[in-house]
Amino acid sequence: MAQYDVIIIGSGPGGYVCAIRCAQLGLKTACVEGRDTLGGTCLNVGCIPSKALLHATHQLHEAQHNFAKMGLTAPAPEVDWEKMLAYKDDVIGQNTKGIEFLFKKNKVDWLKGWGSIPGPGKVKVGDEVHEAKHIVIASGSEASGVPGAEVEIDEKTVVTSTGALELPSIPKSMVVVGGGVIGLEMGSVYARLGTEVTVIEYLDAITPGQDAEIAKQFQKILKKQGLSFVLGAAVKKVSVADGRATVDYTLRKDDSAQSMEADVVLVATGRKPFTKGLNLDALGVTLTQRGQIEVDDRYKTSVEGVYAIGDVIEGPMLAHKAEDEGMAVAEILAGQHGHVNYTVIPGVIYTHPEVASVGLTEEMLKKEGRAYKVGKFSFMGNGRAKAVFAGEGFVKLLADKETDRILGCHVIGPMAGDLIHEVCVAMEFGAAAEDLARTCHAHPTFSEAMREAALACGDGAIHA
Ligand code: NAI
Repeated sequence: MAQYDVIIIGSGPGGYVCAIRCAQLGLKTACVEGRDTLGGTCLNVGCIPSKALLHATHQLHEAQHNFAKMGLTAPAPEVDWEKMLAYKDDVIGQNTKGIEFLFKKNKVDWLKGWGSIPGPGKVKVGDEVHEAKHIVIASGSEASGVPGAEVEIDEKTVVTSTGALELPSIPKSMVVVGGGVIGLEMGSVYARLGTEVTVIEYLDAITPGQDAEIAKQFQKILKKQGLSFVLGAAVKKVSVADGRATVDYTLRKDDSAQSMEADVVLVATGRKPFTKGLNLDALGVTLTQRGQIEVDDRYKTSVEGVYAIGDVIEGPMLAHKAEDEGMAVAEILAGQHGHVNYTVIPGVIYTHPEVASVGLTEEMLKKEGRAYKVGKFSFMGNGRAKAVFAGEGFVKLLADKETDRILGCHVIGPMAGDLIHEVCVAMEFGAAAEDLARTCHAHPTFSEAMREAALACGDGAIHA
């Protein structure tokens, strides 16, 4: 039995970042992980592998649609699916081994196996019980399935994002249930590979919570890329016969029953906290009605010495939110004052173009009754974007009408996921739109569009 200052359960972005920071702050640290590799959902079956497939298929799209326009004439590349999957697996391997290296470098012990908490201050892994002054639960989330519908996931014909990352062949047709982040990222991958992709979404717009104008433009662009959409439709049942799926759904506007067949159905209707096997019930850890672990503003659960971060607690299920909480809780355990600013957490969808946002949307501001101004700038006015066939999107910056303070930013366009961070930094410093507008931006860069949107909050953009 080993004795630790901190044992973290789960090695996803929340857990491994927390472990490294705890060790850096002088705490004797161990991290429990039951998978064969570190990194959790994000590195093994989530963010990282999906980005590899998005990158590979984007290159294919460029070759098919834009190479000839630039005078690059060659037959379009053929897809070797097995090799593409091997490339994706190699990317996973490099990243998961990277975490293993960082654990060794920082002297974090990896306790291999699935952990449970038999009592306060104790973590059981396999037959061994370890002692820890503090326990941090960072056990992440799992696909939630379709609430209230008859859907059985077999990860072959009816898959979650995990199965969608390793289909044995490229399907001819795919129905994606849920027009959220996973559905649109993986839907894009397969649409680029030639699969006929139909997204069935319960709401009347894709990407719930997104700025409505951005969501509308996003859907238009995805449609042009070949994805089909059925909005305002509730999926009720998915059945499989002879390896083919039938999706039964009802249109909400008239309650009419419809159905659609496909080779593969991707269920992307959200995720739920993963707390199975942790012994939380017996331990007396309070959960919310949605099955999340309840924590206070210092990530403390209802049980002394037990903390929780990431997808198992409230808030957006995002790797970077979990990372920030991991660092914050490490600082708290080391006697510092860790905290997370939840008003500045960016969200990114890694399609092409990318969609990124931070802060409040126009809809939220209207609901709040707050006086605001909008600075908008189209990538059509950005020289760099035009040069790379990426003029379709726009930047929308929202600022307080009186004070000019930046309240939110929403971008659909090239490298949006990177561009958004200048606004994140600006918001952390309580900046005004004018601060961004007066910051010199290198030419020619996509980031000039951010500055132009800021200028549009004042005397006007130059290239609009
Ligand atoms: P999501 O919550 O983003 O979207 C689920 C969608 O399914 C919603 O639009 C919902 O209205 C719809 N839906 C629910 N029931 C339905 C039904 N019966 N019929 C039709 N539509 C239905 O969930 P998603 O895409 O599964 O992602 C899960 C989590 O993972 C999210 O929190 C997301 O933020 C995170 N994630 C983030 C990524 C990123 O940051 N790029 C990438 C992948 C996942």
